[in-house]
Amino acid sequence: MVIIWILLLGICDLGRQVSWAKALSSTVRVPCARGKLCDPRLRRDAGGRGGVYEHLGGAPRHRKLYCATKYHLQIHPNGKINGTLEKNSIFSILEITAVDVGIVAIKGLFSGRYLAMNKRGRLYASESYNAECEFVERIHELGYNTYASRLHRTVPNGAGTKRKASAERLWYLSINGKGRPRRGFKTRRTQKSSLFLPRVLDNKDHDAVRLFHTNTKYKESIQKQQKNSGRQKRGH
Ligand SMILES: *[C@@H]1O[C@H](CO)[C@@H](O)[C@H](O)[C@H]1NC(C)=O
Repeated sequence: MVIIWILLLGICDLGRQVSWAKALSSTVRVPCARGKLCDPRLRRDAGGRGGVYEHLGGAPRHRKLYCATKYHLQIHPNGKINGTLEKNSIFSILEITAVDVGIVAIKGLFSGRYLAMNKRGRLYASESYNAECEFVERIHELGYNTYASRLHRTVPNGAGTKRKASAERLWYLSINGKGRPRRGFKTRRTQKSSLFLPRVLDNKDHDAVRLFHTNTKYKESIQKQQKNSGRQKRGH
């Protein structure tokens, strides 16, 4: 009888633990559930407001990156990066994929190009995936994220001396108050222009994505625009 009672208590306790774990997992991912990545700080989701990074190697997620300067990040087929105040620009619809722990690749769904930063700190839309397309994603207060180039940063001079990690400066993705990208070395993580809120797509965006995937004429018309904008660029 006593044994049965203890067993019952045990089951109740287990139930409580499971529901507690469920409640926890809605805010913080329970670490190590599927092996591999065990540091919850690295796996934190942006509070359900479009966080993307809990499934490393999982399917890319469709998001928009809304800058604190009120611009949506755009990745254009002509290679240009800028911001738009428009709510439903197709070039602001992004595919964000975790490529490593805390590292993401950001691709424009309609342009097919990747956000990238070159060694001069300039943002561009790369046709092919390379190391310049990798960004370190960090979560900051109020759900804003920053995206710093994984490859390029300011390294203090003084070859031969021991470099202090704290004196290094990261180069952030940044869209200024005019919708234009800032050069990486001019950015700070505390500037509004470096803070981005990942947003889920709204109905209009979803319609555009559906059309893009199902309507070949629509897709072709966008690809034609891409060609035209390419031609224009070469023409100048
Ligand atoms: C952003 O870039 C696109 C493509 O080059 C251009 O058509 C648009 O005018 C630019 N917008 C801003 C705000 O600079």
